[in-house]
Amino acid sequence: MNIISKLAIAASLATALTSVTIAQDNLQGLVVGFSQIGSESGWRAAETSVTKQQAEALGVDLKFADAQQKQENQIKAIRGFIAQGVDAILVAPVVATGWDDVLAEAKEAEIPVLLLDRGVDAPEDLYLTMVASDQVLEGRVAGDWLVADVGDADCKVVELQGTVGSTPAINRKQGFEEAIAGHDNISIIRSQTGDFTRAKGKEVMEGFIKAENGGADICAVYAHNDDMAVGAIQAIKDAGLKPGTDIKVVSIDGVPDIFSAMVAGEANATVELTPNMAGPAFEALAAYLKDGTVPPKTIITESKLYTPADDPQGEYDTRKSLGY
Ligand code: AHR
Repeated sequence: MNIISKLAIAASLATALTSVTIAQDNLQGLVVGFSQIGSESGWRAAETSVTKQQAEALGVDLKFADAQQKQENQIKAIRGFIAQGVDAILVAPVVATGWDDVLAEAKEAEIPVLLLDRGVDAPEDLYLTMVASDQVLEGRVAGDWLVADVGDADCKVVELQGTVGSTPAINRKQGFEEAIAGHDNISIIRSQTGDFTRAKGKEVMEGFIKAENGGADICAVYAHNDDMAVGAIQAIKDAGLKPGTDIKVVSIDGVPDIFSAMVAGEANATVELTPNMAGPAFEALAAYLKDGTVPPKTIITESKLYTPADDPQGEYDTRKSLGY
């Protein structure tokens, strides 16, 4: 390693350590409410545990509320946090619409709100920042992979959408459609929600297989998350077909189970979504509380493609103890 690379690594390490110190100094002893969607997926479980770990490391008293997939529960929890007078609120919004009133109440109470992993259709001044991936890009990366993989061959795709009305379902669909546009050999023949769960992914895939000549007419399944893909893999196997070969499987998240499926040759590609949304959110909050530094409205996390060429066993080993 040359001296320039060493200096660059040292500088980025120093920046990281400084921001952790700032966060620790400014967040120690604060009370932060966290309205989480629920536990629909392995990725969601990991986000919950990473957020709790981050809070503990920073000395934040985290008040956790599981909404069990219901927006009304999230709104109730946020109102509860406002009534308790918490110092800040983290929200992973289950759907995009319907937040204006409760966010305005938090603003009125001067409590900063930080959105995690999903967006809202609400005026931007109602929240401090959103930490999320570029979900259109995730869909595009998945679609680009399929375009490259099938080449000129005809490919009929079935799509397992995420929760209806959620930003990842809307944006991942859009991105994938953008990627396959202009490739007339690839088309989406069926598309339905599997609500981001393994059970629903399996059930909907069973229906697709039945409707499409026992699966013989399906070339690929595009699932908006890995859990639905894992459910689909089971449905494909139950139908006597080979996932990954007879039907290609491409999805989003990068959870350990999809890497095991890759090791077994049953999944073809995933786009990683980091479960660490809380780290950048706490950093932004700390800087804001320290001297009023206003963070960017959107803090974008990385979206990286993984295929069986990327050491899936190693990826599984790295992730398996991270709370998924
Ligand atoms: O909002 C992020 C999505 O929500 C994840 O991709 C999915 O697994 C989760 O349920």
